[in-house]
Amino acid sequence: MGDVILLTGADGYVGSRLAGPLATRGQVVAVSRRVATGGVPPCDLADAPAVAALAERIAPTVIVHAAGTKDIKACEQHPPIGFDANVRTTLNLLDAFPGVPLLYISTDYVFAGDRGRYTEDDSVAPRTAYGRTKVCAEQVGLLRAPDEFCAVRVSALYDGDATFLRFLRETLGAGRSVDCYEDAFYSPTFLPDLVTAIQRLIDAETRPGVVHVAGPRVSRYAFACAYAEAFGHASRQVVPSRLGPGPLPLFPDLSLETGRARSALGYKPTPHDEALDVLAERRTV
Ligand SMILES: NC(=O)c1ccc[n+]([C@@H]2O[C@H](COP(=O)([O-])OP(=O)(O)OC[C@H]3O[C@@H](n4cnc5c(N)ncnc54)[C@H](OP(=O)(O)O)[C@@H]3O)[C@@H](O)[C@H]2O)c1
Repeated sequence: MGDVILLTGADGYVGSRLAGPLATRGQVVAVSRRVATGGVPPCDLADAPAVAALAERIAPTVIVHAAGTKDIKACEQHPPIGFDANVRTTLNLLDAFPGVPLLYISTDYVFAGDRGRYTEDDSVAPRTAYGRTKVCAEQVGLLRAPDEFCAVRVSALYDGDATFLRFLRETLGAGRSVDCYEDAFYSPTFLPDLVTAIQRLIDAETRPGVVHVAGPRVSRYAFACAYAEAFGHASRQVVPSRLGPGPLPLFPDLSLETGRARSALGYKPTPHDEALDVLAERRTV
């Protein structure tokens, strides 16, 4: 219980779900631009003097940097949005808190998405402005704080409130069908698995510079079928479709290998059918 954990992205999807579990590890100071806990004011982490002022008030033993943007469209249309949210915030934290381990929530979008089963040793080749900002933040961290920085790459995170699950719940629940790509693969990550991995990374004496924390590889179609099965919807409501020519709405294969997390952290991704059964309350954790 000795840790003081600075958690950024306090009111975001990831940060708001990490705050409770991390409180079992120590004192959590959670910040975003709009809210903050732990007796500090909200902070724009893209504003270097504001982050320096935050460092005058708290002395974290570890930082979990879950603030940033995942808005692919906004980053594409206006890259400075992605640069400020994903890169500048990271650099400011590294400057203001030298020597403090920083766990950075990164993404599978650092890869090209054409062949999948990517390991941490594979070359990055982002095909979106969003992905480029995440690669840039990773590189800034690895260069600026090689001993303290750890990029935790996750694929689409899910719990019952994830955007895709909410869409499935509303659409299938209304009796309508959904078209899902059977040739677009990824490694959606069950949120409790990320929580476990982050807790283990906090406790670890040494950490890899980059680690993949992701679920089993699955197609969008197969994942939706597993959802329908767990929640009692008719399987015919999930209709297979295929990626067409032209600009890709999704990538053919962004899946991540998790061998490093398994060996370094004892990480074991939850199979999607089990995770979805837990969410459907057909099974307990
Ligand atoms: N969700 C996923 O499936 C997923 C997958 C892979 C990677 N990630 C990564 O995880 C991170 C968080 O994603 P999310 O899903 O939690 O996004 P989100 O729900 O949009 O939350 C983003 C959080 O970042 C904060 N933030 C953004 N800019 C900030 C700034 N300049 N200063 C302080 N706080 C700032 C936002 O707070 P305010 O707007 O209130 O400031 C909010 O708390 C992103 O870096 C994303 O790349 C997420």
